[in-house]
Amino acid sequence: MLIKTPKSYHLKESEITPENVFLNRRELLKGMGFLGAGALFATASANANAGWFSKEEATKFKTIPLKYTADANTAKLILTPESKVTTHNNFYEFGAQKNQPAELSQNFEVNPWQLTISGECDNPITLDYDDLTSMFALEERIYRLRCVEAWSMVVPWIGFSLADLLKKVAPNSSAKYVVFETLHDPKQMPGQDDRRLGGGIAYPYVEGLRIDEAMNPLTLMSVGLYGKTLPPQNGAPIRLVVPWKYGFKSIKSIVSIKLVSKQPITTWYKLAPNEYGFYANVNPEHDHPRWSQASERRITSGGLFARNRIETLAFNGYGEQVAHLYKNMNLRKYY
Ligand code: MTE
Repeated sequence: MLIKTPKSYHLKESEITPENVFLNRRELLKGMGFLGAGALFATASANANAGWFSKEEATKFKTIPLKYTADANTAKLILTPESKVTTHNNFYEFGAQKNQPAELSQNFEVNPWQLTISGECDNPITLDYDDLTSMFALEERIYRLRCVEAWSMVVPWIGFSLADLLKKVAPNSSAKYVVFETLHDPKQMPGQDDRRLGGGIAYPYVEGLRIDEAMNPLTLMSVGLYGKTLPPQNGAPIRLVVPWKYGFKSIKSIVSIKLVSKQPITTWYKLAPNEYGFYANVNPEHDHPRWSQASERRITSGGLFARNRIETLAFNGYGEQVAHLYKNMNLRKYY
């Protein structure tokens, strides 16, 4: 039996769940025999979701069950339904409308895949598809995801810490930043050579982190969600998840991770530097030039009358783990 001490980054149910919703769900799980030892895996199993989440089939792409260590808190949390996590997406390579990634990515080939980790390090490596799910012990992390567009979700990701991967390549003392790149393959990703479909951004999609942000234990390389490998619209076969930053930092379908000495020019920064900063830490006190960042719409299973407008938290609620990274920085300047 798996008993894990909750880590400080695990969400507290009181932060995210109206009590009646939480209690209903708990009753439901109990009725299904999932509380007790079985509860550890409850929300990760497709069966446990039946009857609670919408039955709507999101995709025809085949996802494969993953072996991972479950979070002991999992059964207590109200997650964004899987059917919403996999149909309300931003993945401009497959179209800039929220429904398009799920619709246009179902023939995306993720195997074979190569992910190269190179640059300022002693042991550059290339991982293939099987390495992504076998090289590191996988764990489930339930994180809030806050999009810069002011909607948010709670997602049960599966993956491993980016720090574990970077330690393998042994960064040298010139490695100050990490640059990530998405696959560039317009044949498979129609938005990459169709400016209208692809939202007019430059491809390949590029993101970056400072090395200490990349090494923070919260920074996750995700290979799955809801107990299975990632569907293409969520960034198969491997993506980044940086829960204290706006969602655009969490780059999908990564083929290259490079350690570099200078701050990289990232995709959204290049398009509109006054709107999308390099840091992009969730900050309710720093508005986007065109809208407020003080609150967000939490995507839930609720319908039209769901009370899901909530206050946005500094660092998306992960300040305890990451605020020290920005101790002497003016976060209005470095947004
Ligand atoms: N990565 C790539 N390659 N292309 C994208 O368009 N969109 C980003 C991020 N990663 C994006 C991307 C944005 S704006 C967000 S909010 C998240 O992915 C959304 O992740 P989700 O669709 O899994 O919720």
